[in-house]
Amino acid sequence: MKKRLQIYITLFFLIFFFLFSGNMTGDEEEKEILAITHGPYLQNITENSATIMWFTNKNCVSRIEYGTGENLRTFPQWGSLVQTAFNSSFGLIEANTKNHKIVIRDLEPGKSYRYRVISKEIVQFKPYEVLFGSSVVGDIFTFKTLNSQQEFTSFYVVNDIHEDAARLDTQIQSVSWDNIDMVFLNGDTLSHFEDEKQIFEGFLDVCVNKFAKNIPFILTRGNHETRGVMARNLPDYVPPRDGRYFYSFNNGPAHFIVLDTGEDKADTHPVYAGLVDFDRYRDLQAEWLKTNAKSEDFSNASFQIVICHIPLFTGRTGRIGHGEQYIKKLWGPIFNDSGIDLLICGHTHRFAILEADEDHNYPIVIGGRDTLIKVHVSKSEFTVDVLESDGQIRESFSISADTLK
Ligand SMILES: [Fe+2]
Repeated sequence: MKKRLQIYITLFFLIFFFLFSGNMTGDEEEKEILAITHGPYLQNITENSATIMWFTNKNCVSRIEYGTGENLRTFPQWGSLVQTAFNSSFGLIEANTKNHKIVIRDLEPGKSYRYRVISKEIVQFKPYEVLFGSSVVGDIFTFKTLNSQQEFTSFYVVNDIHEDAARLDTQIQSVSWDNIDMVFLNGDTLSHFEDEKQIFEGFLDVCVNKFAKNIPFILTRGNHETRGVMARNLPDYVPPRDGRYFYSFNNGPAHFIVLDTGEDKADTHPVYAGLVDFDRYRDLQAEWLKTNAKSEDFSNASFQIVICHIPLFTGRTGRIGHGEQYIKKLWGPIFNDSGIDLLICGHTHRFAILEADEDHNYPIVIGGRDTLIKVHVSKSEFTVDVLESDGQIRESFSISADTLK
């Protein structure tokens, strides 16, 4: 009898300890304050829509409040002027996630909008009982929709960041953001993708701090973004445009063509373990390029500008990688025949400007690891400035529309 009592007492303390220690863990989790950990940042701005992304430290349901800037002083008490956007799929509002992506639709071209993000914690998500916690409200930021009718457009290009956030920070520390419509991260922004920290610490947090809350970045895939166990998760952080990483759009007098050059080595190379299919992917883009060159968006623009990571020509002799050879042969004639006006690349880590010649009837600018390319496009000409990290111009050239006729 006494022995049985001892067993009951021991069991009681064991159960008590188990429950108590469990509550401690829960308490500690609850004590963590709900916060926006990364972002917000703008993606895929069009004439009529904008995608805004951010991350929280706890599972939430999220929304965006937005409106034109005309009543900024009274924000957030806009009353009927405040509009709300949220994300739903198949009838379900996106919820219980730390990764928030919301598309604002039905916007007007060339207009500025104010926005703020709001996330509300979900502390319990049972089938018939969902409990909410506190909310976190972001600051107010601004974005501007694209406009093919505007007189000018200006943009920056950086490339081959390779997760060196400090170098990126230095490259863009002294630049002006006035009238900059977008920033291209032209490939190899990551060295590979195995952990989401590489996105946040490698470039995203710097971009958010410097510009990405108000100006969108466009990540062009390089050969390094395709490597690593999370390469297939890139769309969760950098959403493709219309479901693709190759596409075109117009802004001001420019028609932009963004291409995905794929891996540098052959698909059959042992390092890819038979898990890549880039030649067919580049074939698909070639067919799309031919169709796109016949579009009104292409022909209505004053200048056609192609942005892609691997250059078709480098001006250097020596061994040429498979990817470079493939796109030179496949895309090169299409670029020449359709009449593009500028190709901007990276990949070699060596800055170069290649003037138009018999191989390519358009200039090619290849960014180095320490260069920042600024392009200003008007209806009559475009100017390319290659800047040093102190903001000084290293090289500059302009091409007039008259000379292209
Ligand atoms: Fe590269």
